[in-house]
Amino acid sequence: MSDRVLHRLDEVYAIGGGPGANRAGLSAAEQEAHDLVAGWMEEAGLEVSVDAAGNLFGRLHGASDAKEIWTGSHLDSVPNGGRFDGALGVVAALEAVERLGPQGRTLAVVAFRDEEGWRFGRGCFGSRALCGRLRTSELENVDEEGVSIAAAVRSLGFGPIPESGWLERSPAAFVELHIEQGPVLDALGAPLGIVTSIAGLARLRVSFTGHGGHAGTTPMVRRRDALVAAAGFVLKVREAAEARESAVATVGYLTVKPNAANVVPARVELLVDARAPDAATLSALVDEIEAAAGDAHVQHLGRIEPVELDADRRAALRAVVEELGLLAPQLPSGAGHDAGVLAAAGVPSAILFVRSRAGGVSHSPDEHSDAVDVALAADALERALLRLSSR
Ligand code: HGY
Ligand code: MN
Ligand code: MN
Repeated sequence: MSDRVLHRLDEVYAIGGGPGANRAGLSAAEQEAHDLVAGWMEEAGLEVSVDAAGNLFGRLHGASDAKEIWTGSHLDSVPNGGRFDGALGVVAALEAVERLGPQGRTLAVVAFRDEEGWRFGRGCFGSRALCGRLRTSELENVDEEGVSIAAAVRSLGFGPIPESGWLERSPAAFVELHIEQGPVLDALGAPLGIVTSIAGLARLRVSFTGHGGHAGTTPMVRRRDALVAAAGFVLKVREAAEARESAVATVGYLTVKPNAANVVPARVELLVDARAPDAATLSALVDEIEAAAGDAHVQHLGRIEPVELDADRRAALRAVVEELGLLAPQLPSGAGHDAGVLAAAGVPSAILFVRSRAGGVSHSPDEHSDAVDVALAADALERALLRLSSR
């Protein structure tokens, strides 16, 4: 079972060229991954469909018209991303559903679009669109080439996207298998873990406007260097997070204009990614970061609240992990997931983590899970789907 999962992960990983995974959301590379998986779904005899946001579904119809059981993740990546992030949850879900065969309930394998938000600055695009958490105004956000989300969606043949979403037939459960992307399970010696909650996340776009000028002739005392202002802000972002237990904040994206060695930076634009396990800490963190921006322009790109995952579906995951004779540790997720969006929209959701190796590194080509753990995870997912679909 896991050989085919690992082989298929390699095929997805090869898309977009290296180093690492390079499948930006709503890009041709992500589409290539969706087309590859859609082909595997068809080979497995699933009914394949794509919704208005480009989310891919492969359904194995069940005997009853009871609410469906969904399982999956995402196929896009960050730049130079890992082999397992997202793709494992889709490929292993397909393997589990195919091995199970038709059940009482319809089983759906899902690949949500643009979970990472690499290109447009905000993630979980596909799951938020489906759940009615995507404002129409957001579709005007543009990437570095000035291409809007709306244009990218149209160019791939999807849309229009109704602001209300289309979760009318909400599933009975959504289960996402995902690599932990952290060191906890490895430290516990546990191949699998069950996620209790997902940290809240806020994204800000901050723009600094200075005064461009000649690097050789503009006196230091007369400069308004946008990058120097931004540099001071980046350090304050770090301080704001360090001052709060369990909060994190990152500036991972920054552009300088005109971006030439002999020109004083006139303009800097950067993205802040701020996270905390509870809403109050997240708000305080964002407030402090915004205050630190001074007269720079701050645009709030969006916020996903911290969310608890469904206790009953978590218990089902715990039961199957214990059936395998394994420890079933429970742990929070510092990473965001589509399951968090569905949970916030009222879909009973749960996440099964598989142990990360390599110190838990992720969003990096060094991301790694052992084949034996992947096999255990796929087995546990299959058992969980059987358990959930026979209720
Ligand atoms: O950024 C995240 O938490 C996820 O990898 N999209
Ligand atoms: Mn990720
Ligand atoms: Mn992910």
